[in-house]
Amino acid sequence: MATSDLSQGQLDEIYAFAVDLGRQAGQLLLNRVEKRIAGDSQSVEEKDSAVDIVTQTDEDVEIFIRTAIEKKYPSHKFLGEESYAKGQSRGYLIDEQPTWCVDPLDGTVNFTHIFPMFCVSIGFLVNHRPVIGVIYAPFQDQLFSSCVNRGAWLNEKSRLPLLQYPSVPPLPANAPSQCILSCEWGKDRRDVPDGNLHRKIESFVNLAAEVGSRGGKGGMVHGVRSLGSATLDLAYVAMGSFDIWWEGGCWEWDVAAGIAILLEAGGLVTTANPPEDPDTAPIEDVRLGSRLYLAIRPAGPSKIETGRQSQERTVREVWRRVRELAYTRPGA
Ligand code: IPD
Repeated sequence: MATSDLSQGQLDEIYAFAVDLGRQAGQLLLNRVEKRIAGDSQSVEEKDSAVDIVTQTDEDVEIFIRTAIEKKYPSHKFLGEESYAKGQSRGYLIDEQPTWCVDPLDGTVNFTHIFPMFCVSIGFLVNHRPVIGVIYAPFQDQLFSSCVNRGAWLNEKSRLPLLQYPSVPPLPANAPSQCILSCEWGKDRRDVPDGNLHRKIESFVNLAAEVGSRGGKGGMVHGVRSLGSATLDLAYVAMGSFDIWWEGGCWEWDVAAGIAILLEAGGLVTTANPPEDPDTAPIEDVRLGSRLYLAIRPAGPSKIETGRQSQERTVREVWRRVRELAYTRPGA
């Protein structure tokens, strides 16, 4: 079945199912935290490195979600972080078919430390496009959700972005100054001079340093934040709480739901890597499996620009200050 075969009515039904599923799965995450607080132990296994971990909770919650989806929508494809990680391929498996792209526990490291930024993340895609997103962070009881043409919401009652009246604020005229930058240290910790870790840090410092410094690259952002959950980073961009999210290295299940929500809220998502000419290169839509993401919050018009113009200006200002990241991906 192709996208065009799904009517808005069918999408609405899938959306309601996904919201309910997200809430139930999030409750399971919370139950496990409560059990730990009461003294239960927790098994943690390493995947690719000591910072790439999986708990029994990730696996149990993925099975719970997968079983519910297979029962309700047996013709849909399912891609989950934990079942994917057990496979041999690192290829990009999403095609035009209706596909659920799920991270049962995004922010696993946070979860193991009981740092509240963990959540379940459920994306639904058709024709490669994330059309439904549900993110539920149970410790904070925050539910982010969206469906194409239905808006993006916090707890089903506050429309995103949060500041809408009298209009969505434009991006600052001197962005990235006055912006909150969200970024992640990631899991590639190789301490090699030109590795991703060093390239990220150089980019963070460029964006943070005072204006006029670093050969003109100093961006003097208002603040730098790392939530430790890519999908929540995107939800916070959709809220308008973060202005910019720049990240490389995470995977489609880390971003599918967050991108759906951000796009529906009016945000922009493109590639993290600066093109040869950042001033004039076209600003293309992000490729979901590219592992390279630059997200800009929803923006309204100012006296001299449309919201989209201010988003594109901000993209170019970020591109001028960041290093190219080296994350590869067969088939994306
Ligand atoms: C991780 C988080 C983190 C990002 C990593 C992801 P996980 O997901 O989203 O913010 O920097 O790249 O792998 O492992 O907690 O599901």
